[in-house]
Amino acid sequence: MARCASIILAAGQGTRMKSKKPKVLQELLGKPMVEYVVEAAEAAGSDPILVVVGFGGDQVVETLGDRVEYVWQREQLGTGHAVMMAKEYLAGFDGDVLILYGDTPLLSVETLTALIEARRENGAAAAVLVARLDEPGGYGRIIRDTLGNVCGIVEAKDATPDQKLICEVNTGIYVFEAEPLLKALDRITPVNAQGEYYLTDVIKILVEDGLKVTGVVTDGTEEIMGPNDRVQLAQTEAYLRQQINRKWMLEGVTIIDPESTYIGSQVTIGRDTTIYPGTFLNGKTVIGEDCVIGPYTRIVDSTIGNGTEIQFSQIMGATIGSDNHIGPYAYIRPGTVSEASVKFGDFVEVKNCRIATGSKVPHLTYLGDAEVGANVNIGAGTITCNYDGVNKHRTIIKDNAFIGSNANLVAPVTVGAGATVAAGSTITKEVPDGALAVARSRQEVKTNWCSPKERLKKTDN
Ligand code: UD1
Ligand code: CA
Repeated sequence: MARCASIILAAGQGTRMKSKKPKVLQELLGKPMVEYVVEAAEAAGSDPILVVVGFGGDQVVETLGDRVEYVWQREQLGTGHAVMMAKEYLAGFDGDVLILYGDTPLLSVETLTALIEARRENGAAAAVLVARLDEPGGYGRIIRDTLGNVCGIVEAKDATPDQKLICEVNTGIYVFEAEPLLKALDRITPVNAQGEYYLTDVIKILVEDGLKVTGVVTDGTEEIMGPNDRVQLAQTEAYLRQQINRKWMLEGVTIIDPESTYIGSQVTIGRDTTIYPGTFLNGKTVIGEDCVIGPYTRIVDSTIGNGTEIQFSQIMGATIGSDNHIGPYAYIRPGTVSEASVKFGDFVEVKNCRIATGSKVPHLTYLGDAEVGANVNIGAGTITCNYDGVNKHRTIIKDNAFIGSNANLVAPVTVGAGATVAAGSTITKEVPDGALAVARSRQEVKTNWCSPKERLKKTDN
């Protein structure tokens, strides 16, 4: 297969976003738009991938790192000028050059592959992705000759009234043969309504040189969406979300209300899982089969075992076993690992803990840096006092231990297997296997006392 390079134009500011960030770093489902484009270029087998940066370029470099190569365009003098900046990187390159925009995140790899194939099959020097729009607005218009071949692109601002009526528009996505592109770029001039170097002028030059340009009509106009303001950004994200939800529903996941379910692009979900409204699944999250997730639950970078139920809770960086019951109102933080059939109930916070099979943490508890064995019961109001102000210490609770309500376990400390901690105890020393630890002051009962009210009555008389 012939080689393919990609040039991603990402130097513009995107003024209408009214942001400190360049437009291409605005996020969809938590991921910058330009990353979607880089992924599509990678999937199409491009090497190198050159990103043209300008406004906020340092931020783009920081975001994408060494995954791509960078070309600086210090002044934004037009799309043709942007591609010219990449010239030296392409000197001697023999293959296809894809031109993409960093702010067209929904473009699929299938479309890019079809474009590359169309150029090759037609023996054309370039293929342009075109769209048919009822309202062509500010898009460049596609001019065709009598045979239907593309012979030019006219910008809306330069178009005659007749040309303005053309509904076939330039999406701005092209594939060129490298050598004719580089030669034609030398010949474009900024003599037009906007005083810019138009990449679109390359098309006319190629045709004048007797080369062929083919147009590929896209059937999905959503794919070419390039949001210009935050209203369009929300619309684009909604479309992306619908696509993802639809995919999981077709894979056997029940989503009660797709409109209010937010699933990230890297998430995977097992069959027969049901997702209730107000659920956010983000990052590299893996949900098993037969789970019930939500309502109102957020899960980030976590793995959830089969058959687990989670409601009104937040889970991040955790590995949850099968058949767990979590929530309502549980907060499971990074480093938490639970085995099968564990329960985390209401107002329970757990951080960096291992909890073995069948243990229960039903309510009002903080467990931090703890190792909890199997079939342990943790009473309401239990706190692992894991932090001395400088260091974090571990609490070990062995199999079958019973922690009474409102206990403080001052780490480092160990509660032995089958041991019991009495309610209200503050445990500072090891509790041996099977022992009972009571660490609270004894109750005193005074029967012969006089209440302040009674004392008052006596003095009145
Ligand atoms: C361009 C096309 C137009 C097409 C439209 C599709 C030209 C002359 N016109 O118009 O035919 O219908 O896209 O959206 O090409 N950029 C740079 N450096 C620059 C200028 C632009 O990197 O100097 C980047 C922008 O950041 C953006 C992309 O190129 O990602 C497109 O630029 P934009 O100004 O939006 O192009 P249009 O004028 O809308
Ligand atoms: Ca307490």
